[in-house]
Parts: sequence; structure tokens; C-alpha cells
Amino acid sequence: MTEGQKTAVIFGLANKRSIAWAIAQKLAEAGWRLAITYQNERLELEAKDLIAGLPGATGFMCDVTQDEQIARLFEGLKEKYGVLHGVVHSIGFAPPAELKLPFLQTSREGFRIAHDISVYSLIAVARGAAPLMNAGGGIVTLTYYGSEKVVPNYNVMGVAKAALEATVRYLAYDLGPQAVRVNAISAGPIKSLAARGIANFSDMQKTLVERAPLKRNVDVGEVGSTAAFLLSEGGSGITGETIYVDCGYNIMGF
Ligand SMILES: NC(=O)c1ccc[n+]([C@@H]2O[C@H](COP(=O)([O-])OP(=O)(O)OC[C@H]3O[C@@H](n4cnc5c(N)ncnc54)[C@H](O)[C@@H]3O)[C@@H](O)[C@H]2O)c1
Repeated sequence: MTEGQKTAVIFGLANKRSIAWAIAQKLAEAGWRLAITYQNERLELEAKDLIAGLPGATGFMCDVTQDEQIARLFEGLKEKYGVLHGVVHSIGFAPPAELKLPFLQTSREGFRIAHDISVYSLIAVARGAAPLMNAGGGIVTLTYYGSEKVVPNYNVMGVAKAALEATVRYLAYDLGPQAVRVNAISAGPIKSLAARGIANFSDMQKTLVERAPLKRNVDVGEVGSTAAFLLSEGGSGITGETIYVDCGYNIMGF
């Protein structure tokens, strides 16, 4: 390890279209040493291929619904790195049926799964990371505008993202005294594996081009750069915020 080099753990690499991958690339460019996690054996092959292309990066498996896997991961990170300066949480999931039926039909189990994976996991991961972040640092998660306005078909994920943004504020309050900042990036629609589950996703992108002040879609690299900024010295006064990287779409009333 180079002296002064910072270390981050990134959750949520599925493939090269993952927002986690764009963030990993920007952090690597900025000189970070990276631990990158993927969910399971099914995703391991593709994730490991990508990770092998980033100098100094190491892959770990972690399903965030399993407390013992989270505990084992942080034990491994403590052993390998000692200190962590950054955490990126780029994980979200709702059972596909919940994104197709009317919101009124949201099932108890679908609601539970969406909130467990997309919201509770941030708390679990922050708690695992906190003892390793004794030199201060930053935590970044990914959210979407469907948390505050109705986006048809986003359904229970919108409710989960609202809870995620509130979770960011409560974690920011708890972790502030140890100089750990917690923020969310609200990204415009980006074609990824998760996005494939949302019906009329391409209409969302089309409407953004029509209405957003910048008249174009967001490039995933822009989300990566914002995450790198939030974890850097430049972001040192920012905590508990939701930062939009959506070409300005959210400011429009009509
Ligand atoms: N793509 C978009 O348009 C968009 C916009 C705003 C916010 N986001 C958010 O960005 C984040 C990343 O999504 P993405 O678009 O890169 O898609 P993605 O499918 O590449 O990433 C989602 C990740 O969540 C992981 N995951 C799901 N369940 C898990 C579990 N139990 N344990 C561990 N990992 C699990 C998946 O393996 C995958 O790596 C999500 O929170 C998503 O809601 C996406």
C-alpha cells in the first residue's frame, strides 16, 4: 500500500453496467485501494473478471440479507486493510412482481424484501464499517427521484428509497461525531441490470431528455465522479444530503 492511500469497500457489482463499477473506476483513478463485493456465486465470474482489471482491487462475496456474511466480510476487511475510509452502497432490489402490479397490490413479503435489501442493508453495512472508520471517512448510497414523486411502476422501490434517504440522515447524525459523513446520490435513469426490471424504463430516459435542463441523459461516469467527490476532501462539509445527478430533472415543475 502506498503511504496515505485510502481504502474503500464497494457493494453492488453485478456487471460492467453497474453503477458500482462506474464508481469503482473513478475511485481507482483517484488512487483509492478497493474492496469490491458481489452478491453470490452466480455473479462471481463476471465480477471477478472486472475486478482483476483494476490494479490493487480485491473481490469479496457478500449477500446483505445474511448477517453472518456481513460480519465475515468486515472481519476479512479488518484483517486485510485495518482501516476503511469509504463505503459505497449500490444495492437495491424488489421482487419483479411488485414493479408490475399496481402499487395498491404491494404484498407484505414484497414490501419486506424491498426494504430489507434496499434500506436495512445500509444500516447493517454502516454498523459493520464504523469500527474500521476510526480515521473518519464517507459512506455513499444510491437513490432515485421515485422516493419523492410518483413514478409509475417504481412502486414499492419508491417507498424504500424514501426510507433510504431518511436512513442516510439518521446515520449521518449517529456517525458525525466520529467524522464519518453519510450521503445519497439521486441518479437519473441509467440502463443497468436493476433498471431492466422497471417497465417503461426507456420512457423515463426519453422524458428526461425532453424535460431536464441539460436535455440529455446522465452518463454513469458522472455518478461515479460525484461519489468520488463525496468521499474526497472536497466533500468534507457535506453530510446527510441527497445530491441529484439527474441533469437537473428534479428542479422542473412542468
Ligand atoms: N439504474 C438506475 O437508473 C438507477 C437510478 C437511481 C438509483 N439507482 C440505484 O443504484 C443502485 C445500483 O443499481 P444499478 O442500477 O447499478 O443496478 P445493478 O443491478 O447493477 O446493481 C444492483 C446490485 O444490487 C445487488 N444486490 C441485490 N440484492 C442483493 C443482496 N441480497 N446482497 C448483495 N447485493 C445485492 C445486485 O447483485 C447488484 O449488484 C441501486 O440501489 C439502484 O436502486 C439506479
